[in-house]
Amino acid sequence: MLDHEQVVVRTGRRSRLPVIVAVHSTALGPAAGGLRLWHYPDWRDGLTDALRLSAAMTAKFAVAGLPSGGGKAVVALPEGAVLEPERRGAVLEDVADTIESLGGTYTTGPDVGTGPDDMAVIGRTTPHVFCRPARLGGSGDSSPHTARGTLAALRAVGRRLYGTGRLDGRRLAVAGLGRVGAGLARLLAAEGAALTVTDVDPAKRRIGDELGADWAAPDEIHAADVDIVVPAALGSFLTRNGVAELRCRAVVGPANNQLATPDVADLLHRRGIVWVPDYVASAGGVIHAVSVEVHRLAAEEARARVDAIEDTVSELLHTAESRGRTPAQAADELARRRLDAASDPAGPSAA
Ligand SMILES: NC(=O)c1ccc[n+]([C@@H]2O[C@H](COP(=O)([O-])OP(=O)(O)OC[C@H]3O[C@@H](n4cnc5c(N)ncnc54)[C@H](O)[C@@H]3O)[C@@H](O)[C@H]2O)c1
Repeated sequence: MLDHEQVVVRTGRRSRLPVIVAVHSTALGPAAGGLRLWHYPDWRDGLTDALRLSAAMTAKFAVAGLPSGGGKAVVALPEGAVLEPERRGAVLEDVADTIESLGGTYTTGPDVGTGPDDMAVIGRTTPHVFCRPARLGGSGDSSPHTARGTLAALRAVGRRLYGTGRLDGRRLAVAGLGRVGAGLARLLAAEGAALTVTDVDPAKRRIGDELGADWAAPDEIHAADVDIVVPAALGSFLTRNGVAELRCRAVVGPANNQLATPDVADLLHRRGIVWVPDYVASAGGVIHAVSVEVHRLAAEEARARVDAIEDTVSELLHTAESRGRTPAQAADELARRRLDAASDPAGPSAA
């Protein structure tokens, strides 16, 4: 059964590439979610990705308490295809036409393979786009807000485990010093946390040195003797074997798809290690962008929504503990309750 409200699949008029837009739910508001420009063995794999990722956006907004629904756009590039600038422009215009034809049901932003400059191109055709560069009136790079939101999640976990949201003196291991990881490491260092860091790119060692952090090998950092491990690189950071080696009390980070397999969440729970679902901890960037550019909030209000991740995580950890659930289950249940309440003909309640 199709779980989505609307799925559009078109061959781009200019690029001749498959343009896919999946609108999972508009129960909470018009759908939003990024544009993924990625290689797939078959365009149907891109469709599968769009269906999965748009459903994840619905849950992300629902748990964050935002009046937005879940959507995602995917352009499925054949394996090995290289987009010359002209063809890339054609692809983006094809995507923009498709989004415009949906009349505001779906608004796009950056995701894997796209960035603010691509949003600028899309913005020439349709207003339904966020994260355009700041010089064009958009909210630009979302990573500082993602870092800020992760910090909020870390405070909630700190309060749960140690009775304080302050992170000074706390030992944290940050895996990945990219746009989000480096920004977060800087925020943590400024607060007085003791850091261990890593990156597969040896040039990032300079950032660690600058922050007075210890350096660990990328394949060993998960087992660092720290309070909290912060995955900030790519996916599948937590594997079954890796969980057995953890020495921390919590894993909280911005990286997407942290679990190699879903059952790893249960393994973490059985070991008594708090894991905040990645889609909750990493939501700051999209919360900020959508708040400013779609919901038209002032910057201060948007920041407050990002900081509210602390309350969201506190509530999830409390619910998980009191109901004998994992935080991942508590998050799924919260999303479900909010969506059910919004779809109830009696009108939304304060679920
Ligand atoms: N940028 C955002 O606003 C945002 C929002 C939500 C989620 N995320 C997620 O957060 C993560 C980081 O995003 P980013 O924008 O900082 O990406 P980025 O590409 O800027 O940084 C990723 C960093 O991880 C490093 N890395 C890759 N594999 C590694 C490994 N095995 N061990 C250690 N380091 C490794 C890379 O060298 C790079 O420095 C990604 O999973 C991304 O999907 C980002």
